[in-house]
Amino acid sequence: MSSQTHAQVQTRKPDVPSKLFARIRELHSGERFRNLNWTGTFQDYLQIVEKDPRVLRNAFQRLYDMIVSYGTTEYEEHKEKIIHYHFFDDPLHDGQDAVYGLDRPLMKLVNLFKSAAKGYGTQNRVILLHGPVGSAKSTIVRLLKKGLEDYSKTEDGALYSFSWRVVDENGQEQWEDCPMHEDPIHLIPLEFRKQVFDEMGLDLSDNPSAMQGDLCPFCRFYYRQKMREYGGDWERVVQDVRVYRLVLSEQDRVGIGTFQPKDEKNQDSTELTGDINYRKIAIYGSDSDPRAFNFDGEFNVANRGLIEFIEVLKLDVAFLYDLLGASQEHKIKPKKFPQTDIDEVIIGHTNEPEYRKLQNNEFMEALRDRTVKIDVPYITKLSDEIKIYEKDFRQDKVKGKHIAPHTIEMAAMWAVLTRLEEPKRAQLTLMQKLKLYNGKTLPGFTDDSIRELKAEAPREGMEGISPRYIQDKISNALVNETESCINPFMVLNELEAGLDHHSLITSEEQKKRYRDLLALVKEEYEDIVKNEVQRAIAADEEALARLCANYIDNVKAYTQKEKVRNRYTGQDEEPDERLMRSIEEKIDIPESRKDDFRREIMNYIGALALEGKKFDYRTNERLQKALELKLFEDQKDTIKLTSLVSNVIDKDTQEKIDIVKSRLIKNYGYCEVCATDVLQFVASIFARGDVKGEG
Ligand SMILES: Nc1ncnc2c1ncn2[C@@H]1O[C@H](COP(=O)(O)OP(=O)(O)OP(=O)(O)O)[C@@H](O)[C@H]1O
Ligand SMILES: [Mg+2]
Repeated sequence: MSSQTHAQVQTRKPDVPSKLFARIRELHSGERFRNLNWTGTFQDYLQIVEKDPRVLRNAFQRLYDMIVSYGTTEYEEHKEKIIHYHFFDDPLHDGQDAVYGLDRPLMKLVNLFKSAAKGYGTQNRVILLHGPVGSAKSTIVRLLKKGLEDYSKTEDGALYSFSWRVVDENGQEQWEDCPMHEDPIHLIPLEFRKQVFDEMGLDLSDNPSAMQGDLCPFCRFYYRQKMREYGGDWERVVQDVRVYRLVLSEQDRVGIGTFQPKDEKNQDSTELTGDINYRKIAIYGSDSDPRAFNFDGEFNVANRGLIEFIEVLKLDVAFLYDLLGASQEHKIKPKKFPQTDIDEVIIGHTNEPEYRKLQNNEFMEALRDRTVKIDVPYITKLSDEIKIYEKDFRQDKVKGKHIAPHTIEMAAMWAVLTRLEEPKRAQLTLMQKLKLYNGKTLPGFTDDSIRELKAEAPREGMEGISPRYIQDKISNALVNETESCINPFMVLNELEAGLDHHSLITSEEQKKRYRDLLALVKEEYEDIVKNEVQRAIAADEEALARLCANYIDNVKAYTQKEKVRNRYTGQDEEPDERLMRSIEEKIDIPESRKDDFRREIMNYIGALALEGKKFDYRTNERLQKALELKLFEDQKDTIKLTSLVSNVIDKDTQEKIDIVKSRLIKNYGYCEVCATDVLQFVASIFARGDVKGEG
């Protein structure tokens, strides 16, 4: 009977649920479950250690290995070798918390973990991420936490803890977990541990921390109790221990902790190091019985993993010493209990305004010496900044609204401009500096000059507009606009309107600078769309192919020092230098570089010919652009775009305009609404008569 109902259910519903079930089953695969829920004896654990001593790694070693396990890419930027750690792309979570454009500070951070993992001293410091508001400090820490959680579930990242068998007064057997999920290896007393490792033949020279670390007060209590009970028979004692695989999880408060100071009067050290459990005092009769204490402060919880201190400089001075002790000695002091070993990475963050407030404070004096500060600045490279917003506002995430081309780019451009310092070189504008940083080449500027530019502005990126402000304003524009499509002007206007209420902009002067930069971005936008519309007008494929063939014939003759056969008259003629230059100038190829450019193209065509392939201008983006602009110049009089501004358009012009519009939609990502708007806009610029070569 049951199989019948089954069949009915299946015929009524499509196949999706059963696929879904299979997927969930797969995710929760029996083997994975069994692995993560493994339990065994202490002896089993020693076998695991023998097979793979890496289970004994400390928190820093594990964190470093975790990051490196994702792989790296090396590249060179402005003559500097940079390592990009793939971990920070957040590949396991579809790039949700990916961090862009911060490879340099992240390299410093990873190097710090590395030296701490090797025990070179940095393991005794508080790591302080410092930067302006919204510079991805929290995002970085969130990534590290998630990374540790994921790593603990892999074979490479496996770690273990243990529970005690406890028989209560009714004779019921229970298992009590170590509240600080410490390593079972702590059950081997410190004074014998080295000898045990030696006898096991383990070489732990690169992991000296396995030789440190003693039981927590709670476990020490049971250890002593059982030693007494079994007359000092250690083997019997560890028979009352069950080892289990530890899975780190912030949600379950295992191995990952977060501390956020509340208001200054309301801070209580029990939040960090645990608190007396008054209900249990009644049972155990004393407040110094570890069973009547909850070892559930953030430091306890985060043992074996990582603790994050949000706004660490808001911490009450009284706690500062807890924090400093924890980082320097790897020990905490729960109320009424002795110093207790901890093994965790301590990372705090603070933003620039907070940091400045406390710069001369005694608190800072104590802290400065014991922290390693890593500056996390804003992004100064446009293409990286764009990625932040593309992540949030990808077209598939923004349902029901279209985002016109360049909208995100223009907002990002403004954000980056607010962060850049005016170049000291007179012949360089701020916009040019932005483009240099963004990888564009400018005549007279080399990698060395970019390094110089960066060196003369060491605080660049520590001030300016935060990505959060941009994210908010793009959201506003999406929500507030009644149009089905938002364009750069709408977003730039939102950005401008918000300046009056921006809590961090205090001086009129700064506000004015930001406004001026908005105007600069609008100018840049005009240039971009003018160019785009021109290219759309000229995107007549046949005409382009003809122009291209003509250009190539001439370039070929030029590079081989031959003559060109005039296809029309059949006469041999000199290569048409004017034609070639009029195309090359469209993409800023200077006279001095023209030979290189022509040779490159011929080499490329030659290589294709060897493979039996034919050259297509569409595969060379720069050449295509040059050809389109040239064609536009030749044709501009045949399409009367300016007539768009007047209301009378003849049928012929309307048809031509419709073709251009459809090209904007097909080739440039416009929608019906923004294509119409942008044509109107560009037409009005033409009508104003300030376009190069127009009229
Ligand atoms: N370099 C970057 N790469 C990716 N996203 C970024 C970057 N910088 C900022 N963001 C984005 O900006 C937003 C703010 O980041 P986050 O909350 O991590 O900043 P924060 O430095 O902790 O700020 P605060 O100082 O205000 O606490 C997030 O949405 C984050 O993804
Ligand atoms: Mg933050």
